[in-house]
Amino acid sequence: MSDTPAWLYDETQQIGTDYEDLSEIRAYDQRMAKIRDVAKELGEVIDLLDLSPEATVLELGCGTGEFLIAAVSRCSRVIGADISEPMLRYARKKARERLREEGRVGDLDRIEYVRGGFLTYEHEGEPLDAVVTQFALHHLSDFWKQVALIRIAGMLKPGGRLFIRDVVYSFDPADYEGFFGRYLSRMAELGGEGTPQDILVHIRDEHSTIGWMMEGMIERAGFSIERPDYRAGFIASYLCVKEGR
Ligand SMILES: C[S@@+](CC[C@H](N)C(=O)[O-])C[C@H]1O[C@@H](n2cnc3c(N)ncnc32)[C@H](O)[C@@H]1O
Repeated sequence: MSDTPAWLYDETQQIGTDYEDLSEIRAYDQRMAKIRDVAKELGEVIDLLDLSPEATVLELGCGTGEFLIAAVSRCSRVIGADISEPMLRYARKKARERLREEGRVGDLDRIEYVRGGFLTYEHEGEPLDAVVTQFALHHLSDFWKQVALIRIAGMLKPGGRLFIRDVVYSFDPADYEGFFGRYLSRMAELGGEGTPQDILVHIRDEHSTIGWMMEGMIERAGFSIERPDYRAGFIASYLCVKEGR
């Protein structure tokens, strides 16, 4: 984009895990299946969004696109945005195969895959009914997270819903050494050998923040938080509603 200001954070750079790397992309769903119940998570998110059949939903940082496949049967249009072109290609191919297998080929036409991110995706058309972002916002440092949240509020209808799930810390920061040690051991038991390495890279190189900072940023962007939910000191989710009707 020629009119991108030189001071804008370059969100296309890969920090931590490289989501342009095909081997990472191919391994992602299997790795997640060991430490997350993705189908259950998605069912919960879709229920919380309370989508109407006419709704348009955007997912930022859609990754391999599981949410898009699940959500499209409950609304009119879903848009998956990600900064990684190989990730988007993989997600599109996976959706085509899955929806064909499930006899839902028509749903494909209502999923759009767009290269763009929190700071660069430009929404066109009617304001959105809902935005979802899971395990992606931590790719930005806190200032740029705040900018991302303000941009999301600008794309949503008044009363529109935002669901965020991410690695957000709610343990006592004074105990960071003890906490990270215990958490990494637990993840080794759950996910096997490679998992602690991924989490270690996350802790060291990516930009997870603290719960109270996250809540402050969400509220300052013009949302009320209906349901903050903190799990195991490491994961949080927030159902947020854009203020104003
Ligand atoms: C850990 S994956 C999460 C995928 C999926 N949402 C999930 O819940 O499993 C993070 C994704 O965010 C994407 N990403 C990283 N920085 C981003 C940004 N600034 N804007 C949008 N997506 C970004 C990565 O390319 C990657 O596909």
